[in-house]
Amino acid sequence: MMRVGVLGSGKGSNFAALLNARRAGRLPVDFALVASDVPASGILQLARQAGLPTWEIQEPRYRTRLSPEVEKALAAALAEAGCELIVLAGYMRVVKAPLLDAFPRRIINIHPSLLPKFRGREAWRQALEAGEKETGCTVHWVDEGVDTGEILAQARVPILPGDTPQSLHARIQEAEHHLLPEVIASLARSKPWQPPAAG
Ligand code: GRF
Repeated sequence: MMRVGVLGSGKGSNFAALLNARRAGRLPVDFALVASDVPASGILQLARQAGLPTWEIQEPRYRTRLSPEVEKALAAALAEAGCELIVLAGYMRVVKAPLLDAFPRRIINIHPSLLPKFRGREAWRQALEAGEKETGCTVHWVDEGVDTGEILAQARVPILPGDTPQSLHARIQEAEHHLLPEVIASLARSKPWQPPAAG
């Protein structure tokens, strides 16, 4: 089974969808480590309830990134746990060199818009305020930019008359909860970073 590390800062609804997909036999992975920079986050609670290994990231200095030494320690913990793929599931910090170099083209993110449109925070609100008729979500490889990496898959979501930022975000999240497990399952089956087996 592919070993997956999951990073998140929030309520963890995407991680809950991953746990459900795994229980339903649709996601052939082991969650090797679940890490969060927010001690009271839902994602950590879910991981603990599921009896999974967890890691609390302690970052007293910055809000939008990790200090290099903290990110190095996180990368070491993920490597030590044998992670082959890292999933950012609502992780609210920018990933920098210590993690990117430890897991080159092995980190994916779920973003609530049809990238390249609406990078950054509250992408659903950006789409609504721009008067779009549809938006969606994107799973992409993570690079040194913010929501700039190569796109793996997208799902479209309509914007309906009367939508509020909350109603639209909820509809996008439903789509996320299907898309993210599908993409991870497909990576787990193909492991595109490995050379094809001989013979
Ligand atoms: C999702 O909307 C995701 O697209 C964004 O952060 C949110 C995380 O939500 N990157 P949750 O913690 O998985 O519920």
